[in-house]
Formats: sequence, C-alpha cells, structure tokens
Amino acid sequence: MTKIDLLIYNAAQVATCAGPSGPKRGEAMADVGLIEDGAVAVADGQIVAVGPTAELRADYIAEQRIDAAGKVVCPGFVEPHTHVVFAGDRVNEFELRVKGTSYQEIMAAGGGIVSTTTAVRQASVEQLVAETRPRLNAMLALGTTTAEIKTGYGLDTASEIKLLRAIEALAGQHTIDIVPTFLGAHAIPPEYQGRADAYTDRVIDEMLPAAAAWYQASIFAARHIPLFNDVFCEQNAFNLDQSRRVLAAGLALGLPVKIHADEFTALGGVSLAVELGAVSVDHLDVTTPAERAVLAASETVGVVLPAVNFNLGSLHFADARALIDDGAALALSTDINPGSAPCPSLPLVMAIACRYQQLLPAEALNAITRNAAYAIGRGDVVGSLEPGQQADLLIVNAPDYRHLAYQFGGNLVETVIKKGRVVQV
Ligand code: NIG
Ligand code: FE
Repeated sequence: MTKIDLLIYNAAQVATCAGPSGPKRGEAMADVGLIEDGAVAVADGQIVAVGPTAELRADYIAEQRIDAAGKVVCPGFVEPHTHVVFAGDRVNEFELRVKGTSYQEIMAAGGGIVSTTTAVRQASVEQLVAETRPRLNAMLALGTTTAEIKTGYGLDTASEIKLLRAIEALAGQHTIDIVPTFLGAHAIPPEYQGRADAYTDRVIDEMLPAAAAWYQASIFAARHIPLFNDVFCEQNAFNLDQSRRVLAAGLALGLPVKIHADEFTALGGVSLAVELGAVSVDHLDVTTPAERAVLAASETVGVVLPAVNFNLGSLHFADARALIDDGAALALSTDINPGSAPCPSLPLVMAIACRYQQLLPAEALNAITRNAAYAIGRGDVVGSLEPGQQADLLIVNAPDYRHLAYQFGGNLVETVIKKGRVVQV
C-alpha cells in the first residue's frame, strides 16, 4: 500500500480526457476516456493514478478520502481566451444592441473596446485587481482552474504595462493558474484614429519591447509560463500586414504567437497563424474551407467562442463541426470580456456548442479541458487526468458527464480541487 494525500473514489464516471501526447483531433474528440466506478489518487499536488475504484483502493492508503458516488470526476476546465481584466462595464451598449445597433456599428462610433479603454486608463492596478477578482471567483466556482488573460484595453505603453501588472497580481493571489497574453494590437486607440500604421509602429517599437522587458522580471518568467503576443486581425482593427509585423516583432523578442482571426471578416489570419507557428488561432466564425484545411494540417489549435455569437444575438456560429471533421485541434472558450461576451461559464459554452455547432458533449468536454490546455501551451501540465499531471479536478453533481452540456443555467460543479486541495468556492 502506497501512502498518498487524497483518494477520490466510487465516482459513477471519471472522464479522464487522456490520450497520446498532443491535443485530440477527429474521432478521438468523441472519447473522454471514461472509467466507470472510477477513482483518482493524488500526492504532492499531482495525479499518481487513475483507474477503477477497486484497484486504487487496494493500492493506496490516503490521508483524505472523498466518496464521489453518483457523481462525475473530470479535469478542471481550462479557459484559453479571456479579456477578464477590465474596469467598468458596457451595459449601455448591451441595451443599444437589444434595440438593433450592431457590435461593429458601436465599435465604428467610438464605443466598444475603446470605451473600456477609457475606463482602464483611469483605473489603478489595485482597482483593476479588485474589479476582476469576483469574475475569477465566478469562473472558479463554475470549474475553471486555469485561464489565459489578455491585456488590450490600455492601448498605450503605460496602460498596457498596468494591465500586465494587474494580471501578475492576480496570478500571485488567485487560485486559478493564469497565463498572460499581451494584446497591444487589440484596437486603434482614439489618438491614432485613421493612423493604424503609425499605431502599429508604436506597438512594435515601444510597447512590445516594454512588455518583453517587464515579462523577464515577472512572476510568469519565474514560473516558466510564457507571455503570448496576440493581434485582433480584423477590418477596422489590424489588417494582415500589420498583424504579421506585430506578431513577427513579438517572436523576435521571444513572445509566442496567438491571433484573433476571422471573427467578422476573413483576412487570411489562419494562414498567417500557421506560418508563424501560432499556439492558437481564435474566433474562426467566417473561416473558409481552404483556410480550415490549412489549420487542420498544422499544430495550431483552433479556438471557437460561441458565447460571443450568442451574446450578439447571432445565429451564425463558427463551423466547429467541420473543424473537427477536417482534423483540426479544436478548443472552446468563453472569451469573457465586457463587450462581446460577459460570460464566466465554460459549461454554458459547452451547452451552446452542442446545440448550435453540433458538437457531442464529449467533444465539447475535450475542447474545454485537454485541447484548451494545448491552446495555451499547458497541455503537459493540466487538462487531463493522467499520472504526472497537476491534480486540478472537479466533482460534478451528475451521474453522467453529458449533463454538463445537457443542463444549463445552473452550476453542476460541486467541488473544485486545485493542486490536490479542495478549494472553498
Ligand atoms: O475577442 N474581438 C476582439 N476582442 C474581444 C472583444 C472585446 C470587447 O468587445 O471588449 C473578442 O471578442
Ligand atoms: Fe478576444
């Protein structure tokens, strides 16, 4: 008998999301690695074994035991795309959209991302942290144990560094593991209106070097977590050439690539992402079949964000079904942000993806665990229940994992375990 810290046993199902190295693709997406009457053994914050309850009870003696009878155990959810650090809200714009003004019309009129920028420029690091913490708490209670967070509402050097400092402060104090992304090229700030090339130069010459220097002394470098560099490649934001210049400049500073592509307009962002070896390409609402094939043949993970379409009242969704069928590595995310998706819930995203994008519940679960972890470079640490992975896991109050997508509007996550410890949420 080996001594361990924690044994979770008797689970109706353990959904391991295990598999050979790398994200799941194609038919493997429909396999969540189910173990009926399963158990998970944890020591020193890591998973040491996963298997049938009878076997693990015979092999391990645990300090703490949790009986998960009638429940599902699955990996903690991984959120690969957020803009969760911001000040204020955009509830007025929400009402304008209800009355018929589109998201792009609001953006073109100087609202949208730029209105949040005004609020962020006036906020202190402390205020940003205080406003964001409850949102992270809500995400944690809904099962998110790792999250990427982007800057992008500062749009000048000092304000973007302020956002990085807020992200770092949260990483130092919050239970959720945080992966940072620099998104200086999120929108053209008002003082550069009509001068996108000049702002692109500013991002390249001043903001990226400042972000890269900041990173070297940050908690993230110490934790061996990279700082990603992202661009909103879109009409009225950054065109393909500007996006390429920003991403190449980041690569030269050691910042790996992410990209927002094909949300409203197909500009060729997928091919650019693949060419630059991006870890992920996100949105993909209007991606062409040819670009889908390019993505499928690459290592880049495609992240789709159906809470955005839902929130914007659109019935046009990314063709996530075709992405899986073509062999792309697919992940799902909320995109939590004050404009296009004020939504902390990955289970709600599963529910939308199953209903409007024809994903099976198993595909949706792999997309918010294993594949989402690969979309932020963390697939060898989190996203699946396998020996050696960090012990981030959930006990779900349902006898079958499909309830995570079948029920919606509530919260089935009963217990969150982070690095082997039960978290009070
Ligand atoms: O991912 N698309 C660009 N950025 C965000 C929206 C941010 C906002 O509206 O504040 C997104 O949807
Ligand atoms: Fe985004």
